[in-house]
Amino acid sequence: MEKLMKNFFQFLSTNKFLTRLARKYGLHLGAQRFVAGETLDEAVRVIKKLNEDGLAVTVDYLGEFVENEREANEMADHCVETVERIGAEKLNAQLSVKLTSMGLDISDDVVFRNMTRILDKAKEHDVFVTIDMEDHTRCEKTLTIYKKLREKYDNVGTVLQAYLYRTEHDLENLNAYSPVLRLVKGAYKEPEEVAFPLKKDVDENFKKIIRMNMENGNYTAVATHDDQIIEYTKNLVKELNIPKDRFEFQMLYGIRNEKQLELAREGYTMRVYVPYGTDWYGYFMRRLAERPANVWFVLKGIFKR
Ligand code: FDA
Repeated sequence: MEKLMKNFFQFLSTNKFLTRLARKYGLHLGAQRFVAGETLDEAVRVIKKLNEDGLAVTVDYLGEFVENEREANEMADHCVETVERIGAEKLNAQLSVKLTSMGLDISDDVVFRNMTRILDKAKEHDVFVTIDMEDHTRCEKTLTIYKKLREKYDNVGTVLQAYLYRTEHDLENLNAYSPVLRLVKGAYKEPEEVAFPLKKDVDENFKKIIRMNMENGNYTAVATHDDQIIEYTKNLVKELNIPKDRFEFQMLYGIRNEKQLELAREGYTMRVYVPYGTDWYGYFMRRLAERPANVWFVLKGIFKR
């Protein structure tokens, strides 16, 4: 049943008609639990509160299905504005970006132009930018673009997903770039040909790549809500003598808030991924797919209105 619901929400997350509908009718269905708001002002209020609680942030202007160059440029405008605001308000925040929203499916030129614009502005304000990883069909292209950008910028990192068979190889291959990597389990519906179908194999591979990246001496962001992985990381950093400024934990806004505060109190850098914007629908559906129990929150949200 859980598997069925997971597939259902993953399917819904890619539906363009529902995405447009959601954009039109605003933040509903309980999405407020996972999305900081539709405007930058709303997001800034949330970021300030998290910072006051000792939590660092990475902020994401939501948007995935960009259909033309104009839309991609507008997305980049929002990112530039977000970076300027982080700088102006001295927020403890970084930026996260999806390359499809920068025009990955349109042309490499468009993505480069937009990413260069964002990274130049980010550099000016000392803001770090992470390129999120999307579905496996875009992995190779995303890594190629990351490497090209990394040659010019030191304020850019990317993400590798433990569920992909290729990840171990990618991690080794990226080592030459001294990458700052966020490691995750992976959020998209992927076929068995490219990804481990069993959770236990994903978890094992997750541990393996965390260890590899740390042994390579690269900065590691362990992005998970899973206690077992968090404990593994805590033990590993002791074993390898990795200082607290060479790794961090990351979690999504609205998920395991108490655990986030606990890790921050223990002295770890705890970064919260804070999405905002009108294009919240696909992001929200993926969170429901990860944990169908969250549907309960959605139903409560609907009945409350
Ligand atoms: P897992 O899903 O196994 O969950 C372990 C436990 O955490 C659960 O038993 C539950 O207690 C809790 N939990 C997990 N999800 C929950 C939820 N939605 N609500 C409530 N509790 C929940 N993916 C990707 O493909 N590309 C990317 O770029 C990113 N970026 C990213 C950034 C950050 C900061 C995070 C935290 C995650 C991502 N992800 C991602 C998503 C990631 O791939 C993965 O889908 C989720 O983090 C869920 O996996 P966990 O590691 O949390 O474990």
